[in-house]
Amino acid sequence: MIKNIAVLEGDGIGPEVMKEAIKVLNIISKKSSLKFSYSNALVGASAINKKGNPFPKDTKDICKSSDAILFGAIGDPKYDNDPKAKIRPEDGLLEMRKFLGLYANIRPVKTYKSLIEYSPLKNKILKNVDFIVFRELTGGIYFGKKGILDDGNKAFDTCVYNKSEIERIAVLAFDEALKRNKKLTLVDKANVLSTSRLWREVIQNISKNYSNVKVDYLFVDNAAMKIISNPSDFDVILTENMFGDIITDEASVITGSLGMLPSASVGKDISLFEPIHGSYPQAAGKNIANPMAMILSSAMMIGHSFNMSFEERIINRAVNDALNKGIVTEDINKNKFYKTNEVGDWIANRVHQLIN
Ligand code: IPM
Ligand code: MG
Repeated sequence: MIKNIAVLEGDGIGPEVMKEAIKVLNIISKKSSLKFSYSNALVGASAINKKGNPFPKDTKDICKSSDAILFGAIGDPKYDNDPKAKIRPEDGLLEMRKFLGLYANIRPVKTYKSLIEYSPLKNKILKNVDFIVFRELTGGIYFGKKGILDDGNKAFDTCVYNKSEIERIAVLAFDEALKRNKKLTLVDKANVLSTSRLWREVIQNISKNYSNVKVDYLFVDNAAMKIISNPSDFDVILTENMFGDIITDEASVITGSLGMLPSASVGKDISLFEPIHGSYPQAAGKNIANPMAMILSSAMMIGHSFNMSFEERIINRAVNDALNKGIVTEDINKNKFYKTNEVGDWIANRVHQLIN
């Protein structure tokens, strides 16, 4: 059987880290009765350069007809410093999320023993840190009405949610809590925002069907503090789009390297998998970027979309072995480091050994 994977390398270090993930997937495909077939498509700044559109029609078609999507990164500094730019790479990402209905962004945060010394937090705080954030991805202030008024002297963005948007991601988060430590924390700003009060109402209702799950409510400012001071307290965090964007970046530094965290964006029919580190343009083309988060994202993909949980575990183990053996890029160890492709080769080889 063939699984069609849409490969969207995107911008910056996207193409380099993607190459390493594909290397690893090819080893898996060789050993399995499931074969992977890849279709490359443009997105982000590279799509603007070649097609004048950050999410062009042929990319849409390739995504729609695939079984899963692997995505590298999006963004180019030339747009960041131009507030008047008419088209932006990020618009392509937001359109893609909406178009494919990727409503739940799932970001696991856990510490690796060999990385603990690189975390800015104290060792004792890092013990037993293992939580997962469910961030709503197609609603809220990102997609509400926005505009510019009074000849450019005034601008507005609106945060809107309806109950069904909250319910569908809440059910995913509660189901995950059942499989884990049965604790769910809703992060909101219900002391100020009406959308947050709607979130609380919906979560309170759904929680009646999950009597085994303990539900906590935290205001986002307080949550931002607790993620740093007490990260091991969390199990499943559920939150809306913008709060999720902010706290997941915050959470990523706990682990010691931004280059380690994969994520899944889950939709009704199709899901997309991407590292959370972004396009890191300063490193692009230098063969120095950490490919682990991209490789771990491909592991999440085969586990989630192709039911290959055994192979997913093998990839995770190979990455862990690379860390333990010090086969890492310079973001992790400045004194002794390997190139992007060397780390990818080592992990692919290790997967090959483990799977035999
Ligand atoms: C993310 C990113 C995006 C977001 C940007 C690039 C639009 O920060 O995936 O977290 O804000 O969602
Ligand atoms: Mg972000």
